[in-house]
Amino acid sequence: MDVLDTTQPTAPVTGGSTPPPEDTIVELRGIHKSFGENHVLRGISLSVPKGSSAVVLGGSGSGKSVLIRHIVGLLKPDRGEVWVKGQRVDLLEGNALDRVRLSIGYLFQGGALFDSMTVEENMRFYLDRHTKLSKGEKQDRIEQTVEDVNLSKTLKQFPAELSGGQKKRIGLARAVILEPEIILYDEPTTGLDPISIRVVSDLIVRLRDERGISSVAITHDLLAASIIADDLHFLYQGRFIESGSLDELRASEEPIIKDFFYGTEQYGA
Ligand SMILES: Nc1ncnc2c1ncn2[C@@H]1O[C@H](COP(=O)(O)OP(=O)(O)OP(=O)(O)O)[C@@H](O)[C@H]1O
Ligand SMILES: [Mg+2]
Repeated sequence: MDVLDTTQPTAPVTGGSTPPPEDTIVELRGIHKSFGENHVLRGISLSVPKGSSAVVLGGSGSGKSVLIRHIVGLLKPDRGEVWVKGQRVDLLEGNALDRVRLSIGYLFQGGALFDSMTVEENMRFYLDRHTKLSKGEKQDRIEQTVEDVNLSKTLKQFPAELSGGQKKRIGLARAVILEPEIILYDEPTTGLDPISIRVVSDLIVRLRDERGISSVAITHDLLAASIIADDLHFLYQGRFIESGSLDELRASEEPIIKDFFYGTEQYGA
């Protein structure tokens, strides 16, 4: 039967398209996005199975952050479909969009901590805004989450007093504190030394393995990608020119990908 029912207010918003299978938590279908003449995304499709980590690789300015912003509805595609948990995020507005957003943690490329607040105050501000937990519950959640990233000692410190790696880990704690089902990581390890890259990447893997959190991570960093990724996708000129496991990408004959792997391995990520 081919009947489109848009009358039920409680029905998930699908825009009349067939939703992805239940075990696909995020799906992009044929996404195009331009800013003026700049055609950044030119037909991006991506399926993220529940509980898995997808990694998007690509050069600076290739559109990685633009891509990830579509998943939380911060950008709307010119064309294509954005599915999160069986709903069309590109069609959602208002409360319905907010509800989906609350199940998504977002580690921003720039960190997104308030400089004028301590680590603890940053966390509390976020909980105050988005939850109705009691004061005690909030305090417990803050202490537990910061403990999870091994930074309890920084609770009373200001972001300016933290190292780059500590800031990333606190950013991670902030992304996790609302207990999301999905986390989007925009450059979680950029600018870190190899040991910190491992620490942050291991944390991301732990969140997947212990809590079943699905993720999409953007990175330039092969060490991080090798630890985090279940599947990788290489973005170039608005399209994924290769997708697969790390070994599959390494074996790619595509010159751009060979350059990427050769360059970063040769000169350090
Ligand atoms: N809000 C916007 N308005 C206009 N142009 C934008 C906007 N956001 C991104 N762009 C453009 O889209 C392109 C891709 O930007 P994006 O930030 O996604 O790159 P990126 O792959 O994340 O790069 P980097 O690795 O440096 O973070 C750039 O040319 C950028 O100028
Ligand atoms: Mg970016």
